[in-house]
Amino acid sequence: MNNFSFYSPTEFVFGKGQENNCGALVKKYGGSRVLIHYGGGSAVKSGLLDRVKASLDAAGVTYVTLGGVKPNPRDTLIYEGIELCRKENVDFILSVGGGSCIDSSKGIALGVPYDGDFWDFYGTGKPVEKALPIGTVLTIAAAGSEGSGASVVTKEEGKLKRDVGSDMLRPRFSVLNPELTQTLPPFQTACGATDIMAHVFERYFTNTPEVEITDRLCEAILITMVKETPRVIENPDNYEARANIMWAGTVAHNDIVGVGRSQDWNSHGIEHELSGLYDVAHGAGLAVIMPAWMEFVYKHNPMRFAQMATRVFGCQMNFENPEATAIEGIKRFRKFLHDIGMPINFDELGAKAEDIPYLVKMFGLGDGKTGGFVSLSSDDVAAIYTIASKATL
Ligand code: NZQ
Ligand code: ZN
Repeated sequence: MNNFSFYSPTEFVFGKGQENNCGALVKKYGGSRVLIHYGGGSAVKSGLLDRVKASLDAAGVTYVTLGGVKPNPRDTLIYEGIELCRKENVDFILSVGGGSCIDSSKGIALGVPYDGDFWDFYGTGKPVEKALPIGTVLTIAAAGSEGSGASVVTKEEGKLKRDVGSDMLRPRFSVLNPELTQTLPPFQTACGATDIMAHVFERYFTNTPEVEITDRLCEAILITMVKETPRVIENPDNYEARANIMWAGTVAHNDIVGVGRSQDWNSHGIEHELSGLYDVAHGAGLAVIMPAWMEFVYKHNPMRFAQMATRVFGCQMNFENPEATAIEGIKRFRKFLHDIGMPINFDELGAKAEDIPYLVKMFGLGDGKTGGFVSLSSDDVAAIYTIASKATL
């Protein structure tokens, strides 16, 4: 196991009705003038926004609001949010929504105290030195942004989707009420589930030996997702299944399952070009990319893929031919994604094979290589897009 430092300062407040405590939570973390940031309307329609406002009122915390965050959040609304916060002397941002809303909030949070263009931090590695504090009321189990230091934003001009990561961006608190996810359409639920599993796989496929504890934690999350996702697709009101998925989504991405080991992250990078260009859901893009990536790289360590196949997808180990077990596991993963309603190839996703050279160019590797498990070249990335473009069950 490698040396590590694990920092996850967020207070997670979990369970029914917890959104009614967000006024007190904002106050606890020093907020007195709040920007409530929300999405395209689900939080308004469900009455959640009104409950959040009532909670802030009850705590004597004043606020301004800014809605309209789109999935794959855009830079344009972030500029608007930064202006609004400066004008209104906002000292705390409360995100009410999903990963897109949280990521937009993080963009505003780092932009307010910064003299230059907030975009300077995205895709550049420029360290974030200051940010407004944020809190979240999560409405979809998916991105894990409620416990992560990451923010992923799309620049309208050029459709560039880029990220920034900093402990400064970790939320002070996150309210996780599984009931709030019961209004999700099955497609969004499934996109979220795929993203959660992908966050684990990015960490699970590692070159670091002897990381039994995190292997087993990863497998616990994956097994939970394989069991619980079909249950919520079947019955969206299943609170217990929603609760297990919600907590799985947070622990899949606050890095507790990634400590002490190398991680990969190429599938995410390769997917981000798809959701940037076609504005498709991140989870749907991952459903197409992740199994294709697995097919391309499994020979690097067939035993690790066979381990996933047997422990997560219940495959029989073929000791004479571990590669066959590895391949069977990948097949079952893709079938699982298909069964929960995810696309499995470019056609189903709404992507075009003729765009592959453009996608590779946007990925921006040039002659370089990237990836923590298998180091990929631009040609390798093109090969993965090609596998993904024509995948079948
Ligand atoms: O905008 P509203 O009306 O709320 O509708 C949203 C949106 O259309 C809807 N929704 C959310 N909660 C709902 C609901 N509809 C009904 N009932 C509810 N309770 O779901 C749609 C998707 O929402 P979004 O926030 O986009 O989903 P998600 O949480 O999957 O976030 C995706 C974004 O997160 C980024 C992705 O790239 C993508 O841009 N990621 C962020 C990460 C991070 N910050 O750590 C890591 C991830 O790997 C990921 O890249
Ligand atoms: Zn993701």
